[in-house]
Amino acid sequence: MSKALVLCGGAGTRLRPFTFASAKQVLPVANKPIVHHIMEKLALAGINDAGVIISPEKGSIVKHCLGGGDRWGISVTFIEQNRPAGLAHAVAAAREFLGECPFLMYLGDNLAEVNLRDYWQDFLCGSDDAAAFLKEVDDPRQFGVAVIADSGRLIKVVEKPAAPPGNLALTGIYFFRKTIHGAISRTKPSQRGELEITDAIQSLIDTGGSVKGHVMGGWWHDTGSVEDILQANSVVLKSMEHRPPQGEACPFSTLEGPVIIGEGSRVMQSLIKGPVIIGDRVTVKNSFIGPDVSVGDSCLLDGTKIENTIIMHGCNLAGVTLKDSMIGSCCSTHKRNAGNGCHRLVLGDHSHIAMD
Ligand code: G1P
Repeated sequence: MSKALVLCGGAGTRLRPFTFASAKQVLPVANKPIVHHIMEKLALAGINDAGVIISPEKGSIVKHCLGGGDRWGISVTFIEQNRPAGLAHAVAAAREFLGECPFLMYLGDNLAEVNLRDYWQDFLCGSDDAAAFLKEVDDPRQFGVAVIADSGRLIKVVEKPAAPPGNLALTGIYFFRKTIHGAISRTKPSQRGELEITDAIQSLIDTGGSVKGHVMGGWWHDTGSVEDILQANSVVLKSMEHRPPQGEACPFSTLEGPVIIGEGSRVMQSLIKGPVIIGDRVTVKNSFIGPDVSVGDSCLLDGTKIENTIIMHGCNLAGVTLKDSMIGSCCSTHKRNAGNGCHRLVLGDHSHIAMD
């Protein structure tokens, strides 16, 4: 058994209104829930047994989204964390599931371009107590920050420092051995009242533990806000395999760049500028779509101009120009008079907007 712990608790307040009705880990990036991207990555790394931390409020949504994990060949066990008391608290909640095993921990709202397989195998064969994936960032103050020695081992980690000791952020992908549990039991709640995994890692270091740092070269996105999700959507779309649409799906239309069009979808009198993904049973008419647009299943877009936007399933959009927007499922927007105004909309599920 090769174990992982995926953290899907948390309130996701910065992603309201979507997180009123949903969980941030199930929001779509390139038409696929964020946590599905993570399960694919875990399967590639050789994980076959995952504990998924859920909250009492949103747990059923995450359960419904993942099921038993069969499609990834991963056995999924859901573990309820009774309150959002921090990442180390979540590990403690999973203590019984984890037993004495080493485990790969992945925050359920993180997407990264990294192949974990070799790193994970090396960790299992080696003797480090932990490893953390790091990424150089412009503003480290909003993250855990790590300082590494020439040996590649971590010397120091600090959670959201006002004066960061470097620019390497903790990305939310970690490997641990059972020594982390003792370190967590020595950790006290932080100023924000949470048991921080960063503080537990520092305790491991302070007690002579060896923690390896891996600096990632590829992209990484913490999908905590609408802007972050749109950026993640754009990079994931760019990395997707381009499948040319089949048959008569696109009469009087031009498709440029990487465009994926789902089954039963029609694109008429339109220009699609990739990267764009269009789901199943979608109709696009008289529209300019792209770049960086995802359209969920069963949508109707008529007379629209849409760029850098996520549209979830079941939407009916007519006559609107949208940029940098995120539209929840089953929304409708209607513009009565044609105009050139471009809108940035963030609409929760089932919203209806009419514009003059
Ligand atoms: C958490 C960790 C932080 C890490 C970040 C990555 O922060 O505490 O060290 O850099 O995830 O997304 P949070 O999202 O809980 O604020």
